[in-house]
Amino acid sequence: MMSTRRFAAVLLLCACVHMTQADIEYDDYEAGEKVPEGGTEVDPRGHRPVSRGGGGYTAPRQGPPPVSGRGSYRVRPTAAPLVPKGEQEKDVQPDAGGCTHASVQMGLLCPTGCELKTALLKQESNVRREVQKLKREVDELSRSSNTVVTYVVDMSNNLRERQQVRNENGNTVTEYTGELEEQHAYVKEVVDSGFPSNIRLLQSVLEKMRQKIQKVEKAILAQRDECKEPCSVSCPIPVVSGKECEDIFRRGGRDSQMYLIKPDSFLPAYKTFCDQTTQNGGWLLIHNRMDGSVDFGRRWDDYRRGFGNVAFSVGKSQCQTPGEYWLGNDRISQLTKMGPTEVLLEMQDWSGGKVFAQYRQFTVQGEASNYQLAVSGYSGTAGNTFLDGANELFGENRTMTIHNGMMFSTYDRDNDNWIPGDPTKQCSREDGGGWWYNRCHSANPNGRYYWGGAYTRNMAKHGTDDGMVWMNWKGSWYSLKTMSMKIRPFFEE
Ligand SMILES: *[C@@H]1O[C@H](CO)[C@@H](O)[C@H](O)[C@H]1NC(C)=O
Repeated sequence: MMSTRRFAAVLLLCACVHMTQADIEYDDYEAGEKVPEGGTEVDPRGHRPVSRGGGGYTAPRQGPPPVSGRGSYRVRPTAAPLVPKGEQEKDVQPDAGGCTHASVQMGLLCPTGCELKTALLKQESNVRREVQKLKREVDELSRSSNTVVTYVVDMSNNLRERQQVRNENGNTVTEYTGELEEQHAYVKEVVDSGFPSNIRLLQSVLEKMRQKIQKVEKAILAQRDECKEPCSVSCPIPVVSGKECEDIFRRGGRDSQMYLIKPDSFLPAYKTFCDQTTQNGGWLLIHNRMDGSVDFGRRWDDYRRGFGNVAFSVGKSQCQTPGEYWLGNDRISQLTKMGPTEVLLEMQDWSGGKVFAQYRQFTVQGEASNYQLAVSGYSGTAGNTFLDGANELFGENRTMTIHNGMMFSTYDRDNDNWIPGDPTKQCSREDGGGWWYNRCHSANPNGRYYWGGAYTRNMAKHGTDDGMVWMNWKGSWYSLKTMSMKIRPFFEE
């Protein structure tokens, strides 16, 4: 009986000490399921290796090749139509935007803070839960320590009784009492020294968390205020417009900015950002990441329609372009099927390094084919992840990370090649965004945005490399600072 209670007391103490240690890092509430320690972070992770008895890997059948051949564009005329730089007429279009509306037209202007607000609100509830839990545990602990204190008091009384008995009965119980005294001393010491300080520590952790939550609440309130009114920002839209950015360039639109384009005469025009300087311009920005302000962990419908901010407010009705966005799979498909199209992927790390990957042919099939991807003709400095997969992997493992020929997957629509039909094997659920996942990736431009670059398994929600990864440049455990994808009708220069 004695020794069981003593054991329980020691156990309680251990639990208490352990809890304090674990909760020093209470900021880490996003980590979700913890992955066992020990994995070195240099390990490539993009693939899902075949395990004994697990479903095997069969390379998927290839889809149609990318649209190739001569497009409708000839070499650019040497003397482009003259529009004096800086004197392009600008038509100011008032542009209403809002935080609660998805930017269907891709032109809604909204402070990126609105997205931030949503993210914060999401995290807030997590923290709240954690604090509640912690509070319950602290209460529990206080209660049990009270029980232990009562127990010690009982024991002290018991000891006194025993001492009396000893006086009466001489040596018969000396041995037993000696043991009792020893235990009493031990437990009393534990209770006097260990418990209060541990509980104090826990309480201070709790207090710090409460303060943090208050700060977050203040920040959210400020954001809410800012987002209450639909943001009314005017972004000048140049008068010059066209089918896409190359068309606009040839019509004299030489500034890199937001333009109105109308690639299909049967579909409404929409706004997009044109890069008219890189490699002689004509690039239509279909994807942009630069500050983590937009959530890319989205549904199929969002990826189909497009989301994010082509332009965003920087206060005082000032407008800045481009923001973070995904143009939308329907639009990307429609644009790349009009004729041969090239794609340029540019990226930057957190110390100023820049690389690019370019494919001379890039086609995305329509929704009926789940936006199947086809590329060819690589050049660049970033590494050919789309066609070759991750250089760090070998054999089947590398084949699993090739993106060419893959269909698009989102967390609510699984078209990847990781045991199709098994709902527990979905790349998009684990790797953070919608993408042309295979089993799973060597490039993950729509992954989670990690500030600062290096991240670890334990920081990732599912222990997978869910960052904005380009394995053939920085490996699995480095999330890039910026990434973008631009397309242009292909023409021989
Ligand atoms: C594939 O990856 C797994 C684990 O990552 C490894 O054990 C296996 O040897 C790899 N296979 C090849 C062919 O490299």
